[in-house]
Amino acid sequence: MVGAPGAGKGTQASRLAERLGLPHVASGDLFRSHMRDQTPLGRKAARYIERGELVPDELTVKLVEDRLARPDAREGAILDGFPRTRPQAQALDALLARRDGRVAGALFVDVERERLLRRLAGRWICRASEEHVYHEITRPPATPGRCDIDGAELYQREDDRPETVRARLDKQLPPMYEVVDYYTDRDVMTAVDGDRDVDEVTEALFRAITQPAS
Ligand code: AP5
Repeated sequence: MVGAPGAGKGTQASRLAERLGLPHVASGDLFRSHMRDQTPLGRKAARYIERGELVPDELTVKLVEDRLARPDAREGAILDGFPRTRPQAQALDALLARRDGRVAGALFVDVERERLLRRLAGRWICRASEEHVYHEITRPPATPGRCDIDGAELYQREDDRPETVRARLDKQLPPMYEVVDYYTDRDVMTAVDGDRDVDEVTEALFRAITQPAS
């Protein structure tokens, strides 16, 4: 899943993973888990994430490679937010080739910039599971500040502050478009309009995976 910060990658990847019975592997979630545990990788990654910058490729590729080596990813995975640079895409091809695998499809969730800012400013996430994502206007929880699913507290991400969001968009969109080009050149890219209702976007993505254009 390729898309700008706030495009809805996490929301959609979680739904697709559940429907397809595959693990949802989100590089951002993996970094935040290391940051919470204060691991050496988490401390290194935090320096970049707090500034809205991409974490260096070698750290990111190793992180995702380790995750994909776990047994639940043997049959595949929905990758969310990785690869995000051309070298990451090349490294992913190489590591999958070593396992006789490949990127079966790349999905680009396309959303205009102004909407991204609004989405990130209103996002609230469950402390118990990053899969439970809300928005104060488009998907509010039944009880303000509490997750509908498990009742845990909701919080806003540090890097969703407006100045960090602007840095994320400025620094991360150019390499993201290189990834879009990379998969377009390999005929595995489908772009989906993400400026629609969540359910409509899910259906469009699901169709792109299950009925790829020949
Ligand atoms: P990461 O966690 O991947 O953040 P991101 O790419 O900036 O994406 P977000 O999680 O912010 O947004 P999303 O697209 O998942 O949107 P969501 O579904 O939540 O990465 C964090 C940081 O880690 C990066 O900045 C970077 O530093 C580092 N990093 C991660 N991966 C890396 C890599 N590969 N290489 C290097 N560094 C890396 O939706 C957003 C909001 O909109 C929610 O409130 C949701 O409810 C709402 N919403 C979603 N869809 C809709 C819709 N259709 N209509 C209305 N509202 C919607």
